[in-house]
Amino acid sequence: MDASNLKTLIEGIPKAELHLHIEGSFEPELMFKIAKRNSISLDYASVESLKKAYKFNNLQEFLDIYYLGAQVLIHEQDFFDLTWAYLTKVHSQNVVHAEIFFDPQTHTERGIEFGTVINGIYKALEKGTEELNISFKLIMSYLRHLSEEEAFKTLEQSLPYKDWIAGVGLDSSEMGNPPSKFEKVFKASANHGYKLVAHAGEEGPSEYIREALDLLKVVRIDHGNRCLDDDELVERLINENIALTLCPFSNLELKVIQKMEDHPVAKMLDRGLLATIHSDDPAYFEGYMNENYYETAKALNLDKNQIMQLAINAFEASWLSTEAKEKHIAAVTEYFDTWDL
Ligand code: HPA
Ligand code: ZN
Repeated sequence: MDASNLKTLIEGIPKAELHLHIEGSFEPELMFKIAKRNSISLDYASVESLKKAYKFNNLQEFLDIYYLGAQVLIHEQDFFDLTWAYLTKVHSQNVVHAEIFFDPQTHTERGIEFGTVINGIYKALEKGTEELNISFKLIMSYLRHLSEEEAFKTLEQSLPYKDWIAGVGLDSSEMGNPPSKFEKVFKASANHGYKLVAHAGEEGPSEYIREALDLLKVVRIDHGNRCLDDDELVERLINENIALTLCPFSNLELKVIQKMEDHPVAKMLDRGLLATIHSDDPAYFEGYMNENYYETAKALNLDKNQIMQLAINAFEASWLSTEAKEKHIAAVTEYFDTWDL
């Protein structure tokens, strides 16, 4: 497939995004605008100098700058604008369903009310459904570098809004913060009706993926790259139909892989894993859904069927109703049928 055909093919696919941190969609231009209206001075003089700082050797170097950027978010309107900017961007990329993470502790730790954060995000998501026809689920992530006790406080704060929250996740610094640290709070979260996911096996070992399954009882693994180190685990992920929400640009930028050609997604599809592709933190890694699909497909020489499988897998792994999943998967299949490649 030539490059221009591949690009056009990917642009037209109806897509589901299942691994996106809303704070990671904070584009520098919007960051400067919100900083100005909140009278906050950023450490960088311009959008260009800020973007120059987006060079990371590992997850922690990224997180340090990601948490810094989030500090300019103060008012409900700021969270609304952040979310709305993401939705309009991905609408232009034919994303029709988004399951997005937010990190309440990044904000409540700075004295911002939980309600301020979620009201802004949720109102934008509702507007996205009405005006852009993008369905959504909201996932509250616990920061794993903080204590389980802090996560319990966050769980408590979330309860007045629990009808707005589909599930909980686990993100931030993986090494040294294994899933086992959060066993109790995940159990309590499930008792409140939240679905469960966790980042695991991004930088951490395959053992962390096993812990996320055994101890946290998650239904999806975010990233999960390292599962390929462990054949028995791979078999289990296949048998239990556990999706892996992969993020190729993120993996490349955070040096989880050294070049796109090394990305494990093709191998995972070959083995029958429910692998999907997403953007993680698109403002920092400079690629939304289309760019992630395109660069991955190009580097790994994915064929039409593999690309279609990725798109179908994302709806399959989503938290949509069976009926909605079937409708979206039929639309994907029909779309690919129009391409005679
Ligand atoms: N990994 C862990 N935590 C994160 C990430 C990620 O890729 N993005 C935002 N928080
Ligand atoms: Zn992530």
